[in-house]
Amino acid sequence: MRGVIMDHQLFSLVQQMTMEEKIAQLLQLAAPFFEGTESEGEITGPMASMGISEQHVQNAGSILGLSGAKQVIDIQQAYLKRNRLGIPLLVMADIVHGYRTIFPVPLAIGCSWDLELAEKSAQIAAAEAAVSGVHVTFAPMVDLVRDPRWGRVMESTGEDPYLNSLFARAFVRGFQGGDLTKETDRVAACVKHFAAYGAAEAGRDYNTVDLSEWQLREFYLPAYKAALDEGCEMVMTAFNTVNGIPVSGNKQLLRGLLRGEWGFDGVLISDWGAVKEMIPHGVAADEAEAAYKAIQAGVDIEMMTPTYVHHLQTLVESGAVDEALIDEAVLRILQLKKKLGLFEQPLRGANPEREREIVFCTDHRDTSRELAVKSCVLLKNDNVLPLKQGQKIALIGPFTRNGDILGPWSWKGSKEEAVQLYDAMATRTEPSLLTVAEGCGIEAFATEEQWNEALEAAREADVIVLALGEHSDMSGEAGSRADIRLPQAQLELIARLKPLHKPMAAVLFNGRPLDLHGVIDQADAVLEAWFPGSEGGAAVADLLFGFEMPSGRLTMSFPYSVGQVPVYYNAFNTGRPKDAPDAQERYVSQYLDIPNEPLLPFGFGLSYTTFAYEDAQLSAAEMTADKTLTVTVRVSNTGDLPGEEVVQLYVRDLAGDVVRPIKELKAFRKISPQPGESTEVAFTITEPQLRYYHSDYTYASDAGDFIAYIGPNSRDTVELPFRLVK
Ligand code: BGC
Repeated sequence: MRGVIMDHQLFSLVQQMTMEEKIAQLLQLAAPFFEGTESEGEITGPMASMGISEQHVQNAGSILGLSGAKQVIDIQQAYLKRNRLGIPLLVMADIVHGYRTIFPVPLAIGCSWDLELAEKSAQIAAAEAAVSGVHVTFAPMVDLVRDPRWGRVMESTGEDPYLNSLFARAFVRGFQGGDLTKETDRVAACVKHFAAYGAAEAGRDYNTVDLSEWQLREFYLPAYKAALDEGCEMVMTAFNTVNGIPVSGNKQLLRGLLRGEWGFDGVLISDWGAVKEMIPHGVAADEAEAAYKAIQAGVDIEMMTPTYVHHLQTLVESGAVDEALIDEAVLRILQLKKKLGLFEQPLRGANPEREREIVFCTDHRDTSRELAVKSCVLLKNDNVLPLKQGQKIALIGPFTRNGDILGPWSWKGSKEEAVQLYDAMATRTEPSLLTVAEGCGIEAFATEEQWNEALEAAREADVIVLALGEHSDMSGEAGSRADIRLPQAQLELIARLKPLHKPMAAVLFNGRPLDLHGVIDQADAVLEAWFPGSEGGAAVADLLFGFEMPSGRLTMSFPYSVGQVPVYYNAFNTGRPKDAPDAQERYVSQYLDIPNEPLLPFGFGLSYTTFAYEDAQLSAAEMTADKTLTVTVRVSNTGDLPGEEVVQLYVRDLAGDVVRPIKELKAFRKISPQPGESTEVAFTITEPQLRYYHSDYTYASDAGDFIAYIGPNSRDTVELPFRLVK
């Protein structure tokens, strides 16, 4: 990780700053506070109510949610004219899965299992953002997620710590590149939301998180750590509590673990308003106490609340806060500004001409389409897909002609620019063979007219394609749902079309694993398209017609019913597992009314072809720290079409110091054997892969019995027992 801050130039700059100037560096305000931004008219309202003065705005160290090369240049130039010491303004924004070229939502990107494309998507997002004047993105979001009621699962890559860590690294590499000073087409990354924001109780956003330290270390922390190991410049503190203390005031977590144990000395920013929220959380009596706790805990930048600018000076004067803490925070911020090259080039990558050339260019959109193709997951297919040329198709549903397929974090993306499904399908078949009908609204039940139109289209057709889903406000921040089925209006549409006995394929546009009852049991094929981004319609149409082959695999389990939630593949066996040979009928860990297993497991996804797994073997029955094991398997394409398979390796440790998951993903390989061809896949198992956190938090492996599992998903695996000898 980075070295200790020892920059004499910056140090002397800090010494020249007044206390007011220093504290202003720690304030981050949203774009509308600044003169010259598009939403200028809104300044007075929030400014007055927040107690922000003109002086605060003029000296605030960073701004959020600003972009557009010309606008950023104007604001930076005006800011520098007023700034006594010529310290440039830092521009941050949420470039989560694309700037204006929108990529699939991160949960979908996770399902691609394609780290290279994930990295490329972040690189493109960075290039578009940087040329539009952005310096830092509030991404990647790497929260481990297990509860699909939580609307923000779409921002994460899923439920597996290993896979999330790989994606965290890929995104950081893509955003930051190798040298932020020279590469002005990259942006600094800010990993979020530290820590364990994804574990909000009952899936309700902003709710309490309460995890044991062991759960935190084993499952929730690895992806943040991976991002930092990749050089991620910033960390954002989450809204939630950890161990009873809101993260922005959690000294043990921030100064103890993050800064102390992990050695992170980059910039730590609070989430929006999170410092002041310590008051309603009930750990600060007033703003002054919130500011005190946050600065003691090590939060450098306070986003969108004014407790620092109102109280830090008095806290320093009274001796409650050591001025050195303020200096340290200011130095970190200046260090980042320096690293971004802002002192020499305050306009950095902002360039209106280049902006016009590259933002939303064909190349970027092609990559978005490619990633969308890889992100869609085929969940069911009883001989309906791919559609055949010459078939009469009725395309029905609220997502047939709908640009709301970008997802909730697509700030600069335009729904109008998104490729809609109908338009894309119409260019891939004879238009006269395609009839379109809305059928119903996303939540609004079919009117008689809508229903008659849908019925007529369906009656004439050889096959029905349903385009269904959630609108983008139904997931994302503050988008929790207790009932995670499709809205009733759409379930009714399916039920009314079913008696026509036509082959029916459903495409789903949505931001979370759904309870698919009423869909998967009714439709003959189901394609999960998530929110696929700017080129979504094109990608889905290519898949439906078989110009592209579905290859996505779920990275978050689809529950059988919401009553199972949280349900995830890397769970523990319990003392009374349901499937044990000697299990009793009743007194086992089970539900009386539903299965224990999710409807669709982690790693699951179909292709248009079939793959057979044969001759799974281990190179030996035992391994040691020096002698690794090789697992091999022959995977054959046994169908008639090409296809891509994700071969997955899992391991179980049968007796640990603490309980161990029934399966843990350790490696995977993507292969594409042609029809009739086989590929031999080999994985190496090494001792470090068998390490885990013990009860005393040492990270080590234990001698003993293990099982390796190999297969196409976390459920349908072949078992290969082995021993680790020490
Ligand atoms: C979200 C963050 C985001 C921030 C800035 C917050 O409400 O939780 O994910 O980065 O706003 O827009």
